Amino acid sequence: MPDWRRSVRRERSGMFFRSSDNGFVHPHASEITPQRVYQQRRAFMQHLATGAAGASLAAWASREAMAQGATARPGKLAPLPGKVSTVSGAAVMEKITAYQDASTYNNFYEFGTDKADPARNAHTLKTDPWAIDIEGLVKKPGRWDLADLLKLSPMEERIYRMRCVEGWSMVVPWVGYSLAELIRKVEPLGSAKYVSFQTLADPKTMPFVGSRVLDWPYEEGLRLDEAMHPLTLLCFGMYGEVLPKQNGAPVRLVVPWKYGFKNAKSLVKIRFTEQQPATAWNKAAANEYGFYSNVNPNVDHPRWSQATERRLGEDGLLSKKRKTLMFNGYEAQVASLYAGMDLRKNF
Ligand code: MTE
Repeated sequence: MPDWRRSVRRERSGMFFRSSDNGFVHPHASEITPQRVYQQRRAFMQHLATGAAGASLAAWASREAMAQGATARPGKLAPLPGKVSTVSGAAVMEKITAYQDASTYNNFYEFGTDKADPARNAHTLKTDPWAIDIEGLVKKPGRWDLADLLKLSPMEERIYRMRCVEGWSMVVPWVGYSLAELIRKVEPLGSAKYVSFQTLADPKTMPFVGSRVLDWPYEEGLRLDEAMHPLTLLCFGMYGEVLPKQNGAPVRLVVPWKYGFKNAKSLVKIRFTEQQPATAWNKAAANEYGFYSNVNPNVDHPRWSQATERRLGEDGLLSKKRKTLMFNGYEAQVASLYAGMDLRKNF
């Protein structure tokens, strides 16, 4: 087992109970990421680290490096390329986590609580046909088939940090478009203040639905202005391909400045409400998981510090722990959403 897996396992007991890593053997990132892309990225990061690149060159080079992401397909699933996004904050210049790590170290409790369970069990998930129902306080409620959602707006590649509340993180090239594109089409009423997201709960194909780990279906929620923020992604793919089932196929949410559990997978319903909606982890442990769940190194989880994190795929020595950034590094883009709020109370 590589060091990073061992140390994440040693240290973190998981959202619900004990360690969930079963410790299966796992190759190093450089063995998995296509060699050419990996070397290009490494050379690029070193170039930046030496300070040799001027700002404009860095911006150009990063776009080139990012664009490689779309072609760096692991080659298992249908291609889903996205154009490089121009949304502020949508192209993190950090080493991208190996596809192998991002697709085998997962939280998707419908398929089991062990990090390896979703990759092992999610093959039973049926993603065709698929649709999302739009309900509640909108002028245009109704059912959107996946085919129509895929056509609604051009696909973009967004390279985001993802910080799990458990203290590990990764950098993933997601593919999708701003959720705001869909929200504008369904025209929320003036009374709509929140958006709730419901995911599939099918006991026939999801072996842990029915277990008492969570109150199914998995639900999440955002304030309407958070849902409309351009960084909030309706996500259909990663690494230039459609999402693997364990990562929430065929469509999920990605909200990069919040803890990973806000990123509801395999969405089937989006509902616009006046009242703050219930969320799965808040119902399970309200003192541990608040509604907002913004990444905040200054507010500890009751059972562990949130000041630092481990990046998946990195050497797991203690010295390699990195500092967690306010709003996961997206402070410039999102801090204004919370102006005047007490982020300890509204955690
Ligand atoms: N969505 C559903 N439906 N069920 C889940 O158990 N887990 C959440 C989130 N979305 C979860 C979910 C948690 S805790 C995290 S950290 C992320 O998915 C993990 O996403 P990833 O496996 O793609 O990294």
